[in-house]
Amino acid sequence: MDLKAFIRRLPKAELHLHIEGALEPEMMFDLARRNGVVLSYPSVEATRAAYAFRDLQSFLDIYYAGAAVLLHERDFYDLAMAYFHRARADGVVHAELFFDPQTHTARGVAFETVLAGLERAAQDAEALLGISSRLILCFLRHLSEAEAFATLELARPHHHRIHGVGLDSSEQGHPPAKFERVFACCHDLGLRLVAHAGEEGPPAYVWEALDRLRIERIDHGVRAAEDPALVARLVRERIPLTVCPLSNVRLRVFPDLARHNLKQLLDRGLCVTLNSDDPAYFGGYIGQNFLEAAEALGLSRSDLVTLARNSLQASFVTDAERAPWLAQLETVAGES
Ligand code: HPA
Ligand code: ZN
Repeated sequence: MDLKAFIRRLPKAELHLHIEGALEPEMMFDLARRNGVVLSYPSVEATRAAYAFRDLQSFLDIYYAGAAVLLHERDFYDLAMAYFHRARADGVVHAELFFDPQTHTARGVAFETVLAGLERAAQDAEALLGISSRLILCFLRHLSEAEAFATLELARPHHHRIHGVGLDSSEQGHPPAKFERVFACCHDLGLRLVAHAGEEGPPAYVWEALDRLRIERIDHGVRAAEDPALVARLVRERIPLTVCPLSNVRLRVFPDLARHNLKQLLDRGLCVTLNSDDPAYFGGYIGQNFLEAAEALGLSRSDLVTLARNSLQASFVTDAERAPWLAQLETVAGES
């Protein structure tokens, strides 16, 4: 079986996917037309050509501007359904989707509009495509603690429709501890906790996310490799990392894929998972991340099975939901 087919056949969970980052330029233009929104670039081609990022912030500026076309429940539904179709084609059996309500409420879009569109897509994805999913609300860390609390108040009546919370946007200068009290409230509501840390920010932010936010998974976390005591802790406590190889190259966290550290992290015993982050902006969906990482780093089929197994184990599903996917994975592993 060729590598691409093997990767596709591995049942996998995607755990680090910003739904706003799945907005392909074609859909951006369709929605702009449908909603009467004027975009900064004249065409799909010019938009794609602008996706040459220097760092996280240069990406975020363009990413938040693109989200301006999302206004109605149907827009969020269409966006998420398009993602679910791509995910199914890549062998994703379960996806945990990040969404950024503050990007939308700041433009006058109701929290309920965002949630209703995403939730309806999640229900249809389950019924029509057989993909299970969860929604994770992310707080924008460049905004204040008070704004995060205000967002939590909007979410509170719907907290049973949201599985967890995360922390994203500009990392440097916005340490996890800024949101310690917000995450404590979320913990008390029974929400699962994750946070971006150690993407551009230092290993100290990963320690903080663990100790002060009590998070269960680290999003990115690749800079943890700089701190052996931190790596030892992540291994000992089996804290998963949701690594996004193509994102890391596009945002210049690593100069190229051959110099990405995910293979070293895997070999050091970390629970590494592979994910697409913002696939419409970074050159590919989860299958492309697996394929390009495998080729650049010489990952073995056994490494690829481990990455897929890690994603199923690191997901927030119940053991009963996980069991058939793990069994399916072992069958595929046995065929290779
Ligand atoms: N990092 C931080 N914030 C984000 C990202 C990311 O990779 N993608 C979307 N928002
Ligand atoms: Zn991310």
